[in-house]
Amino acid sequence: MHWAPQSAQKVLRSEATALIASLGKESHWTQALHTLAELRVTGPKPDAVLLGAAVAACGRGKAWQHALELLDETQRLSLPDLCLWRMCAQSPPFDMASAVPLVTGGGSGIGLGLAEEFLKLGATKVLISSRREEVLKAAAEKHAGKIHYLVSDAGKEQDRAALLKWVESDHPDCNVLVNNAGIQRRVAPATDEAPWSERAAEIEINFAGPVHLCALFTPHLLKQKQAMLANVSSGLAFVPFTAGPVYGATKAALHSYTLALRYSLEQTSLRVVEIVPPAVKSNLGGSHDFGEECDVFCAAVMERVAAGELEVGFGFSESGRLADRVTNQQAMVGISKQMNVQTYAAA
Ligand SMILES: NC(=O)c1ccc[n+]([C@@H]2O[C@H](COP(=O)([O-])OP(=O)(O)OC[C@H]3O[C@@H](n4cnc5c(N)ncnc54)[C@H](OP(=O)(O)O)[C@@H]3O)[C@@H](O)[C@H]2O)c1
Repeated sequence: MHWAPQSAQKVLRSEATALIASLGKESHWTQALHTLAELRVTGPKPDAVLLGAAVAACGRGKAWQHALELLDETQRLSLPDLCLWRMCAQSPPFDMASAVPLVTGGGSGIGLGLAEEFLKLGATKVLISSRREEVLKAAAEKHAGKIHYLVSDAGKEQDRAALLKWVESDHPDCNVLVNNAGIQRRVAPATDEAPWSERAAEIEINFAGPVHLCALFTPHLLKQKQAMLANVSSGLAFVPFTAGPVYGATKAALHSYTLALRYSLEQTSLRVVEIVPPAVKSNLGGSHDFGEECDVFCAAVMERVAAGELEVGFGFSESGRLADRVTNQQAMVGISKQMNVQTYAAA
């Protein structure tokens, strides 16, 4: 294949795009990649449209790894629509020395890991809450004077209101809320005869609780110089979870809610963060002894949150969220902006 000189770049790029697209339609994804490789050496620089054609070709050939790598490259291009989501997904670094976080479910598992990372990154006071006092007490004793706790059930409306009251009266300097508390029921849906209350509890703790706490804490956090709402979703927010359909749906809902909140608050001092764990070793669902080491995961995500990233995954949840971002969220942001979405002015 021969590519003409620089002056004819525009036409040639469209020709190359058409060629790669037609190879993709015929499921010749290896040839499409070969053409792309040749183009990189001799032709015009690939743009997002051309890369998109190559992604589609790889998708038809089920060459997912190649498709993801190309999607990643697409995101690094400075194109207006891609700039938009990048802008939404990055803020200035967060001053961790002045962070006073409240982490729900912070006495064990990922919650305790995140709480300890706040301390390592410079915070001098961390607040934690959950249902079991003995677990909270053990964490507070381990970090004497630095961790303070309140027994509180994130699945109960009155407990959530009491959590805000405790913060306002005893810790008014609290400037971060991490909605981490969560449960997971692994079931076979066709034969799941558990009472409705079990599914309702999963919805209440994983989704209704964070939504209510975000609403309760937003006015308090907006009064702070810098502030953060961080929701812990899951890589399962981006793919159906057959072993726990309600769990997956609560996380998908939390992801959607978090995005909407981020866009509506983007002009204010309150940043909205989403932490997207992959499988991490913890007690989720009774036992979860497979996946990433909890401390490795927490250290990696908190470093990026401190640097200002607003949506942070790890391992498979990172590639999953990036793929989702390019295919769906670009369109979603564009549509949202046309619909006169309510946004809030800077403080
Ligand atoms: N581990 C994973 O593979 C994974 C993957 C993706 C997402 N996540 C998410 O990460 C978050 C933390 O999970 P984990 O893996 O650390 O699980 P975990 O080891 O089971 O810890 C869950 C924590 O949440 C607290 N909690 C549960 N229900 C609560 C309630 N109603 N009110 C207040 N606190 C409650 C628990 O404390 P008490 O029992 O004392 O209340 C515990 O501290 C969850 O949102 C989970 O969905 C985990």
